[in-house]
Amino acid sequence: MHRIVVVGIGPGNPDFVLPAGRKVIDSAKVLVGGKRALADFAGGCPGQETFPIGADIPAVIEFIRGKLDSSEVVAMVSGDPGYFSLLDALLREFPKEIIKVIPGISSVQYAFSRLALPWHEAEFISFHGRTPDEERLRYKKGRLLGFITDTKQNSHSIPELLLSLGWPKNTYFAVGARLSYDDEYIAETTLADASETVLQTHCVLVVKA
Ligand SMILES: C[S@@+](CC[C@H](N)C(=O)[O-])C[C@H]1O[C@@H](n2cnc3c(N)ncnc32)[C@H](O)[C@@H]1O
Repeated sequence: MHRIVVVGIGPGNPDFVLPAGRKVIDSAKVLVGGKRALADFAGGCPGQETFPIGADIPAVIEFIRGKLDSSEVVAMVSGDPGYFSLLDALLREFPKEIIKVIPGISSVQYAFSRLALPWHEAEFISFHGRTPDEERLRYKKGRLLGFITDTKQNSHSIPELLLSLGWPKNTYFAVGARLSYDDEYIAETTLADASETVLQTHCVLVVKA
């Protein structure tokens, strides 16, 4: 069996892919990734075979399984593979020994850098397809939280939730959407005024109590 190389491609702009990841992507005989990633990065190797990662994860797993006897497979994932990516599903399906991970810049890491905020005290919580326990969201002076989000749990609904859990209205609140792209959106405000910023769905939110 050949290896699966999982490459983190960062927040999206090709300028933020590590050279080590780019090398692996460019020489991949079999390359899987989201549609946008394939449009940006496929074609580096003559005869390269590609497969899109969409909502049907079992189909991606079966495609990879079918290739491993004859070829290494490179899987591109957004951000860093260690933070909510296809890596979890791959580890459930294949032996760890055949999986190699190349890191990428996570969207949360990128957001903190855009806001010039150190993140060594930060806690990261996902609202992407899940609702965290209220206990994890409790207010405490000094807490610094970074969230990833989705369509339902977004830059307007999450501040409302935090306010309802007793977070002060003047708590620092920041939104980063389409991070690293030309139309990147960054807003810094307070929880109370979050609804005055443009609604963002798949984004990174930061709160600092
Ligand atoms: C399945 S998670 C993947 C996280 C990824 N592994 C990482 O390290 O950033 C997808 C979520 O990450 C966030 N995200 C990923 N790329 C982003 C970007 N360029 N701008 C803003 N948020 C992004 C959004 O909240 C999105 O819904």
